[in-house]
Amino acid sequence: MRDTAFSTEFRSQLDLLMRLRRDVRRFRSDPVDEAALARCLATFALAPSVGLSQPWRILRIETDAARDAALKNFQDSNTDALAGYSGARAKLYSQLKLSGMQEAPVQLAIYCDDDTTQGHGLGAHSMPEMRRYSVACAITLFWLRLRAEGLGLGWVSVLDPARLNRDLEVPQGWHLIGYFCLGHPEAVSETPELEQKGWERRRAALPIEIR
Ligand SMILES: Cc1cc2nc3c(=O)[nH]c(=O)nc-3n(C[C@H](O)[C@H](O)[C@H](O)COP(=O)(O)O)c2cc1C
Repeated sequence: MRDTAFSTEFRSQLDLLMRLRRDVRRFRSDPVDEAALARCLATFALAPSVGLSQPWRILRIETDAARDAALKNFQDSNTDALAGYSGARAKLYSQLKLSGMQEAPVQLAIYCDDDTTQGHGLGAHSMPEMRRYSVACAITLFWLRLRAEGLGLGWVSVLDPARLNRDLEVPQGWHLIGYFCLGHPEAVSETPELEQKGWERRRAALPIEIR
């Protein structure tokens, strides 16, 4: 097993991969190759997790009924969220596309099993939320691996999680981390879509304080 640093070329490729990772809401309609998807899903097994608890649980949303329920949930939540803005910010919000749920060929709801006994509670005794952070860590690896295959992922959090859990008949103890749209992106960009649309700017400055 190699134990030395990777080459300069590899590092610049890795930087490029991270620069080109985008949150994708606009997908082409062609299907996702199942073998490529399986390679990407295999990154979950490589991810860090508190106590090695591997608390991620994945539902693949395939049926019309499940997709419709998730889409309606998003639409209602998005209407509620819009009501929280006013003036120019509301106008801008209403113009954003915040999910690709109507067209994404693959859709996943990803959960954290808060009650898992795997890991025997190590690291989660005083901070049980670490299990949920572990799922977010795994999703980041998945996100990058998808991009390496030319695929895109869009994270949807504009949802009512209790309603989604009921509609998808999710087991007790599972906490929604996010709903994910996957497919071939319509476009490639180094600039986040929210920046392109004037919602927010990405800052390069890293806030570090000394104590
Ligand atoms: C936890 C989390 C939740 C997010 N939820 C949404 C969402 O509901 N809808 C959406 O359009 N983007 C969502 N995003 C994507 C962010 O808007 C996006 O990451 C950010 O604007 C930066 O763009 P980039 O990912 O292309 O660099 C979410 C991202 C994260 C990490």
